[in-house]
Amino acid sequence: MGKNILITGAAGFIGSHLVKEMLHFSEDTVYALDDMSGGCLENIEEFSETFSDRFIFQKIDICDYERLYAFIAENAITHIYHLAAIVSVQESMADPLRTGRVNLQGTLNLLEAARQAGAKRVVFSSSAAIYGDEKSMPKNENSPEKPVSPYGYEKMMAERYLKLYSSTYGVETVALRYFNVYGPGQRADSEYSGVISIFDTMLRQGKTPTIYGDGTQYRDFVYVQDVVKANIAAMNTDDISGEVICIGTGRKTTVNDIFATIAKKYGHTQPPKYEPARKGDVYGSLCDNGKMRKLLGLQELVNFEQGVMKI
Ligand SMILES: NC(=O)c1ccc[n+]([C@@H]2O[C@H](COP(=O)([O-])OP(=O)(O)OC[C@H]3O[C@@H](n4cnc5c(N)ncnc54)[C@H](O)[C@@H]3O)[C@@H](O)[C@H]2O)c1
Repeated sequence: MGKNILITGAAGFIGSHLVKEMLHFSEDTVYALDDMSGGCLENIEEFSETFSDRFIFQKIDICDYERLYAFIAENAITHIYHLAAIVSVQESMADPLRTGRVNLQGTLNLLEAARQAGAKRVVFSSSAAIYGDEKSMPKNENSPEKPVSPYGYEKMMAERYLKLYSSTYGVETVALRYFNVYGPGQRADSEYSGVISIFDTMLRQGKTPTIYGDGTQYRDFVYVQDVVKANIAAMNTDDISGEVICIGTGRKTTVNDIFATIAKKYGHTQPPKYEPARKGDVYGSLCDNGKMRKLLGLQELVNFEQGVMKI
């Protein structure tokens, strides 16, 4: 018999990949919610037809505690993947009250609803934005937390609430700190991996993209299916309640690498254009994924060249 699980932010990029995986490879009944502020109905509408008996979607805002609680309690949901968030750093800078309501208060609503309804475990999508531009590299779970945006603070404070709900209220919680997630279905304006989508679109059309700076700035790009695997392992591994786990590949990918990989994909032979670096760009970000490998058992990760071919 499958479980009753909930995925918040289900119409979003990562959420919709997780929904798909759960429907195809588990017997669980998937309850899904999203307020559609950033998500896309096309990401999930096929599931309402193909899996009509095991996929139940409702448009719910996680800021609406009563509806959130009712959805969890009435459907006897025991396991929750919490991905709903306003993911834009820029938006958090412009309107910290709004992003604070969703990313922090909304997460507290979710945890409290889970507690009141007797849910067993919550797996939370956190972010490497917690580190800000702190220079030590690679980052692990003990690296200094120095967020430089409301978004980073909201994720950091949400992680604290998760720890509290684990230690004090007996709701099992796991926070996964993703680095830069990429893959099919990602919006081109994503601040996380937008450069991949932008280069992919331009090079497919035979246009030459611009690289700001010398192109040696780097990120740790993790393929969306590996993030889905990490979520499922975090839900199903015993004795990890209260843990924070960094999710990345441990491999540097520079902007020059991105250009070269995607140019090769489309047989593009022109060199990129270079312009001066933009102010405020973080130079590097890299994950030490030792804890992920040890606790979640994720060993084989999709490499960047393979991942780019799937976009
Ligand atoms: N994409 C990345 O590289 C990355 C990196 C680190 C962390 N994350 C985290 O992973 C999670 C998923 O990110 P994503 O890239 O899929 O982004 P996304 O914007 O595609 O998905 C987020 C979803 O949450 C929904 N949402 C927003 N506010 C809501 C609300 N008040 N109530 C209900 N739903 C709401 C949006 O409509 C959207 O569908 C987020 O929590 C994000 O912070 C993503």
